[in-house]
Amino acid sequence: MSAFALPNSPLAQPAEISSPSFLLCPPAHYGIHYVINPWMAANVGAAQNTLAMEQWGTFRDVLARYATVELMPAVEGLPDLVFTANAAVLRGSMAVLSSFRPLERQPEEPHYGEWLTARGYDVLVLPRELHFEGAGDALFHRAQLADGHSAPLLWLGHGVRSSIQAVPFLEQHLGVAVQPLRLADKRFYHLDTCFCPLDRGYLLYYPAAFVPESVAVIERLVPPSHRFAVADADAEDFACNAVNVADQVILNRASDELNAWLADRGFTVHETPTSEFLKAGGSTKCMTLRLDEM
Ligand code: ARG
Repeated sequence: MSAFALPNSPLAQPAEISSPSFLLCPPAHYGIHYVINPWMAANVGAAQNTLAMEQWGTFRDVLARYATVELMPAVEGLPDLVFTANAAVLRGSMAVLSSFRPLERQPEEPHYGEWLTARGYDVLVLPRELHFEGAGDALFHRAQLADGHSAPLLWLGHGVRSSIQAVPFLEQHLGVAVQPLRLADKRFYHLDTCFCPLDRGYLLYYPAAFVPESVAVIERLVPPSHRFAVADADAEDFACNAVNVADQVILNRASDELNAWLADRGFTVHETPTSEFLKAGGSTKCMTLRLDEM
């Protein structure tokens, strides 16, 4: 099944990937040229290019204080390539490449596949008819859970973009245990728009984005001391779409309540405005792919 097998030990990172590090793509060809989620509907043609470039640059500079930033080139005609979270999900040197549901984003796949292969990842290409949108929908829990799993836990958001049929491919190729969560609100179409595992096993989540059964699973697996249910305003500001590096959290904007909860748990919050990317349904986390994922 692996399209391009390379001689890596599956659980080691590819050589020369430093830790922590993230893949970004500059918004040189960014824009809202089609509608594939509700945020885009009112915003076709509305992204301000200069401001988008400035916001992305500020975000990159903040992230670069805490992690290595690697770049892939922007490609004309692929406005959403800036959202590198959707490239793939990685573990060690293993990668499961995205297989996009929207036709508009399918041409991004070879660009991500080539970049990852060149960088030393063993890239699994899924069957075309099976939809999976990478680290937009597949997020690792950042601590061992007291649920008897010994493999790392990968949460999978499904029901809008990614399909639950991706589960066995993820479990086999990555050697993880997958916990599916069913998404219920088309505005929160990727798991990383409404759910954010943080260092030391903490979690931000927006309950209204999930079916009740999935809220129950989250609340059973993660103890109350470790989770924060964000309110509507934080969810709509994409506060769950946060990048976390150790005790640093980089996001668009957080309420006083959320800021206080994070500060009490030892996190430092950096607010970097992403208004131009919210118009496409993305914020800081969407614009990153963690490369040293173990
Ligand atoms: N316009 C893009 C889409 O709808 C935004 C992707 C945001 N990425 C993310 N990981 N949530 O596909």
